[in-house]
Amino acid sequence: MDKKKHFLVTAALPYANGPVHIGHLAGCYLPADIFVRYLRSCGTDVKFICGSDEHGVPITIKAKKEGITPQQVVDKYNGIMKKSFEDFGITFDHYSRTTNPIHHQTASDFFRTLYDKNVFVEETTEQFYDEEAKQFLADRYITGTCPKCSNPKAYGDQCEKCGSTLNATDLIDPHSALSGSKPVLRKTKNWFLPLDKLQPDIERYIAARKNIFRPTAYGQCRSWLDQQLQPRAMTRDLDWGVKVPVKDAEGKVLYVWFDAPIGYISATKELLPNDWERYWKKQPNEKDNASLIHFIGKDNIVFHCIIFPAMLMAHGDFIVPENVPANEFLNLEGDKISTSRNWAVWLNEYLEEMPDREDELRYVLTSIAPETKDSEFTWKDYQARINNELCSILGNFVNRVMVLTAQNFESRVPEAASASVNEAFAPVAEKVFGLRQNIAAELDKYNFREAMSLCMDLARVGNKYLQENEPWKLVKQDKAAAGSVLHHGLTICHELAVCLQPFLPNTAAKLFAMLQATPENAAWDKPSGSFALQAGTMLGASEILFKKVEDADIEKQIQKLQATKAAMPESSAPAADLLPQKEATTFDDFVKMDIRTGTILAAEKVSGADKLLKLTIDTGIDQRTVVSGIAMFFKPEEIVGKRVSILVNLLPRKLKGIVSNGMILMAENPDGKLVFVTPDEGALNGSSIK
Ligand code: 2FM
Ligand code: ZN
Repeated sequence: MDKKKHFLVTAALPYANGPVHIGHLAGCYLPADIFVRYLRSCGTDVKFICGSDEHGVPITIKAKKEGITPQQVVDKYNGIMKKSFEDFGITFDHYSRTTNPIHHQTASDFFRTLYDKNVFVEETTEQFYDEEAKQFLADRYITGTCPKCSNPKAYGDQCEKCGSTLNATDLIDPHSALSGSKPVLRKTKNWFLPLDKLQPDIERYIAARKNIFRPTAYGQCRSWLDQQLQPRAMTRDLDWGVKVPVKDAEGKVLYVWFDAPIGYISATKELLPNDWERYWKKQPNEKDNASLIHFIGKDNIVFHCIIFPAMLMAHGDFIVPENVPANEFLNLEGDKISTSRNWAVWLNEYLEEMPDREDELRYVLTSIAPETKDSEFTWKDYQARINNELCSILGNFVNRVMVLTAQNFESRVPEAASASVNEAFAPVAEKVFGLRQNIAAELDKYNFREAMSLCMDLARVGNKYLQENEPWKLVKQDKAAAGSVLHHGLTICHELAVCLQPFLPNTAAKLFAMLQATPENAAWDKPSGSFALQAGTMLGASEILFKKVEDADIEKQIQKLQATKAAMPESSAPAADLLPQKEATTFDDFVKMDIRTGTILAAEKVSGADKLLKLTIDTGIDQRTVVSGIAMFFKPEEIVGKRVSILVNLLPRKLKGIVSNGMILMAENPDGKLVFVTPDEGALNGSSIK
């Protein structure tokens, strides 16, 4: 990464329809803040932009629910969200709002430029209309069954379960979210962004990011492109939003996903009225272009990786996003986090109930960051990570070094006077400085979880060094040698302060204060050894960095969630004992599995294995042996002739000396007994299940 360039970093503008929760933080705000703090600590020119997304149906729905106006909704939640972000230490350079006049003007001008360039296709189409509520049903005003994954709660523009972007007319069994009635189709005019025509430009853009985007983002984009992009309406028949700035557009506003990303531009304008173009516009010399980085959650991928770049390219004056680090979802105690179901850990409540534990939450959320797959927050895990890692490894190391220095060297940095101790420290120092470089390398690659874990390795190296040299014993025999060991221990503490700055800023600041060092002097790329502390420096007051989390604190939080679950209407609580839905997979991955219908021709027990049966299956393709773990549930003679579904292209495995060629698909009945997934009559052996 070229850190001499200037960066514009954004975090997705959250809808101002509810407080911030830990899913938001883990999704994009925390990784973005870590990245920006890292760049700042490298001396890189970076601006960090965010703000409230105050338009769109999520806001008007909330207004209806709370019986207040959309403006009142956004005023209320913008304040709550902004404050939580600040209190938690997310260091935006600017947090704006899309209801600000400057945003309306910017979004309106952007639309007008595309309109004047004849980019849009003006088309009258049939859209759903609610005759009871007397309005068109855009986006989340309409729900129905997703045509791709059968989720019965898909929205008119998006299915949150499978991540597909939809048109309302794609939904199966659509109904109005306003009145519940079945909508009718009514003609209306809208302006469409012809993504089909823009496909070649987007293909080039995405191809150039094959090794830059994370696999999920790249995969989603590829899948969109492979299905051929379709024109997408950029206007809506609604009265809340940015008015469409052309003739014959009364009662229409810009699609929220057209105006929201332009919010990044308007917020930059607000921050830097005279300099914003340097961060957004193409510069005469390409190498002077800013690096534009959008941190988002995976439900926003298509809007940031395809639609927004298409808008920027069609406009012509703007740079395009260089990278779009997209995280997967964070679940909470086995269930999907949801604002509407109140299933969340709300940041404002956390900050009150767990005071002075901002860094602890940053640590836990970074350690479990859903970077490559969905992950899970549980209060027990939160407690274990703080007590067993932050307290026992990091806090304990720093505390031992500080206390020993206070007790034996009057809190002054001892001389590194012992040649033999210094010599023995050389390989440790190499490891320590190597870790700093590795942490920086992971941060450059947006691998925050790994970088955080390497910081803990640094503390582990420190603990091991103390353990091997036992300065508390050494001081009785050779004070100079013990002083040298502590000098090096303090150097490791200093390294920790440097490396922890982006992740645990309060802890890093405490460490710098304890070491009487200033972060300004601490850069990531200083040559090894340059952080050696000045002997004789009087250290600052020693502080315990982390306090253990008590069982009672965790119990309180768990009980709070249990009360939420008890209050949930049955339809929104997950069915008991069912596994939560696995993370989304692609159709391409699904079709790699060759599942066929077959018949069991023979079955026998496997000697020496209680659970296994050796089956001979007619797969239609061949007759083959499959070893299956179903002996506890079936006698061999019972199942001969049984029709089954079998995964035929599973790599062969040897079980109790027998080579098994495939796997029989089984389900579980309510008593926990395995049952066969039997094809309906009429499917011949070998018929492909798809
Ligand atoms: O998903 C959301 O919460 C959207 N409000 C994100 C918008 S990001 C950007 F485009 F502003
Ligand atoms: Zn779906």
